[in-house]
Amino acid sequence: MIDRPRRSALYMPASNAKAIEKARSLACDVVILDLEDAVAPEAKETAREQAVQAIADGGFGRRELVIRINGLDTPWGEADLRAAAAARPDAVLVPKVNGPADVAACSAALEGDTALWAMIETGRAVFAVEPIAAASATSRLTTFVMGVNDLAKETRAHILPRREAFHAALSLSVTAARIHGLTILDGVFNDIEDLNGLEDACRQGVEFGFDGKTLIHPKQIGVCNVLFSPSPAEVDWARAVIAAFALPENQGKGAIRVDGKMTELLHLAQAQRLVAVADAIHAAEAA
Ligand code: COA
Ligand code: MG
Repeated sequence: MIDRPRRSALYMPASNAKAIEKARSLACDVVILDLEDAVAPEAKETAREQAVQAIADGGFGRRELVIRINGLDTPWGEADLRAAAAARPDAVLVPKVNGPADVAACSAALEGDTALWAMIETGRAVFAVEPIAAASATSRLTTFVMGVNDLAKETRAHILPRREAFHAALSLSVTAARIHGLTILDGVFNDIEDLNGLEDACRQGVEFGFDGKTLIHPKQIGVCNVLFSPSPAEVDWARAVIAAFALPENQGKGAIRVDGKMTELLHLAQAQRLVAVADAIHAAEAA
C-alpha cells in the first residue's frame, strides 16, 4: 500500500505565529511545528502553547501535522511530549533518538492515532539505525527524518554540496527504513536563496532513495515537490512496462524487451509502485 505523499515537510518555529498562519496555505505535504532547535529557551513555553492551539484550530487541509518536541533529556521534553500527545497531531517527531529504548518510551506516551517519527541525527543513532527501525514492529514508529546539521555538529564533518561525509549515514538510514517499511525524509538545505543548490540536493535525496525532504522556507517547497514526484517520463516508462507485461504473448515470462531494454518482473513491481505513487500525489493535490 502507498502512503500519502510526504515529498515536502516544512519546519517552522512554533513560536512564530505568522509562519504557522502562512503554513495553512502553502503547498507542502507536511507541516512540522518545531519546539526544538528553531526555538530559543525563552520562547519554549509560547511555542508549545501555539503548537497545541494550531492543531486545535485546524485549517491545514490535506497537510499532515507534526510537532517536533524537545529531547526527553532537556528541561522541556517531558512537558512537550505530554502536551503534544494530548493535542493528537498526525505525528510527534522526537529529536536525538539514540536507540530502540527511546522509541519505546516516546511511543508509549502517545494517544489516539498519533504516529511517532524519529530524527536520525546522533552518532549513536547511526550505529543503531537498524535496531531503531526494527522498533517500529512494537511501537508507533513510522518515519525517520535525517538531522544532518546535528550530525555535522556532533562529528565535526563538513556539509559540502555533495555531502560526501554523510553518505554512509544517509544510505544506512534509508536501508534500515526500507527493511522495516518506514518512510524516510532527507535533512534540510540551509541556503535559502540558492534554489539551484536545493535542486541538486533534492536530486541527491531522490538518488539515495528518500521519500521526501525536510525544508526550512516556503521558497523551497515548489522545487522539492517536483523533484520528489515521479517525472512524466518515469510515469510513461512505468505504464509501458505494465502494458507490456499484460500482453497475451508475455504471460508467464520473467524477462521481456521494452523500448529495447531488458525488463524483468522486478521492474514491473517498480513500475506498479511508481504509478501508485503518482496516483497518490494526484489524489492528494486534488483534495
Ligand atoms: N514556515 C512558514 N513560513 C515561513 C517560514 C517557514 N519555515 N520561513 C519564513 N516564512 C514566512 C515568513 O513568516 C514571511 O512571511 P510574511 O511574508 O507573511 O511576512 C515570509 O515567509 C518570508 O520570510 P523571510 O523574510 O524570507 O524569512 P526570514 O528571513 O524572516 O526567516 C528563517 C528566515 C530561516 C529564520 C525562517 O525561514 C525560519 O524560521 N525557518 C525555519 C527554521 C526551522 O524551523 N528550523 C528547524 C529545523 S532545521
Ligand atoms: Mg537538530
